Amino acid sequence: MNSAQNAPIPPKLMPNMALKQRNTFGFEVYAELAYEISAAEQIPGLMQQISEKKLPWRVLGGGSNVILPRVLSGVTLLMNIPGHDITQSNANHTVITVGAGVNWHDFVAWTLVQNLPGLENLALIPGTVGAAPIQNIGAYGAEIADYIDSIEAFDSVAHAFVTLSKEACHFAYRDSYFKQNPHRYIVTKVAFKIPQAWKPRLQYADLVKQFSDTDPTPSAQEIFDAVCAIRSKKLPDPKVIGNAGSFFQNPIISEAQYKHLIEQHPKLISYPEGVGKRKLAAGWLIDQCGFKGQRIGPVGVYENQALVLVNHGDGTAENILQLAKSIQVKVQEVFGVELEIEPNIF
Ligand code: EPU
Repeated sequence: MNSAQNAPIPPKLMPNMALKQRNTFGFEVYAELAYEISAAEQIPGLMQQISEKKLPWRVLGGGSNVILPRVLSGVTLLMNIPGHDITQSNANHTVITVGAGVNWHDFVAWTLVQNLPGLENLALIPGTVGAAPIQNIGAYGAEIADYIDSIEAFDSVAHAFVTLSKEACHFAYRDSYFKQNPHRYIVTKVAFKIPQAWKPRLQYADLVKQFSDTDPTPSAQEIFDAVCAIRSKKLPDPKVIGNAGSFFQNPIISEAQYKHLIEQHPKLISYPEGVGKRKLAAGWLIDQCGFKGQRIGPVGVYENQALVLVNHGDGTAENILQLAKSIQVKVQEVFGVELEIEPNIF
């Protein structure tokens, strides 16, 4: 085989590309030079050019956890790497290797069809498989970190592909090594390890309500369906109202601060979070400050869930960040708690 046969197909360039459909806030955004990445092999050559020309660059998955400015200058890599393969299966577990561009929810649905339950509590989370580990997506008592085996990524500093074990990914609540080292890695493939032993995880209040009386041992498919129904009721469909899911992280505070706060606010909602720490429900804090359903120009706070900021029409990143600032200031004033923005600001 000669070298021309080995060369990867060059990534497709789409100059001045409109990204309104590729960010779930639905902001009017243009990418100067967008490249569709459909194979990992396309990345080293492109990153070499970017580095030689000293161009700014960033990676976009499903655009469901980002706040984008009107113009993205330089290069935007649109991650479309497809495919999922069962790469190992034994009496204890199954390993599935998945391309970064695969839609997360479609992958979860596929695992159930393959009779590989485990990910059902994470159904209907928008975005791609490659983006999911960066913020360690979590919902209804499960986190993606529980199921990661390893991650393959292109390291833009070493200019080489690397494979990180689950331990090397330093997962924590809505956090990972990738998030701690922004602008360095491009996730290309994620290997999931799904244990053969399965039991339903129903400790989360909404699921307890759904199943405890009627059916204490639901199937994975029934949990998947319930999670889809709960999420659809609570969270706005980005195709209808632009949003990026939870806009703030649930703040983690010390037990001492918690004791002080609960005295002043007996209805405060919180969960234990490791030794000596509590996680507060940010949605409740924002709700108590009266923001739920409020509208400021083209943006606002969702009427059914105060943790979700929405774009009602032609809002921009500036509008959303201004609203976020006023919420942060008020919550700090009333509760003395700092709210951290969850989506990545580009
Ligand atoms: N609450 C209010 N008012 C509100 C919103 C919430 O009083 O306007 C109260 C609820 O009644 C509940 C508590 O706050 O007692 C927590 O609310 P909820 O159960 O809706 O979950 P959450 O803490 O707001 C988190 C995740 C979600 C995930 C759900 C379910 C974060 C930042 N958010 O939300 O993740 O789907 O739990 O597990 O951890 C996302 O990250 O985009 C996301 C949607």
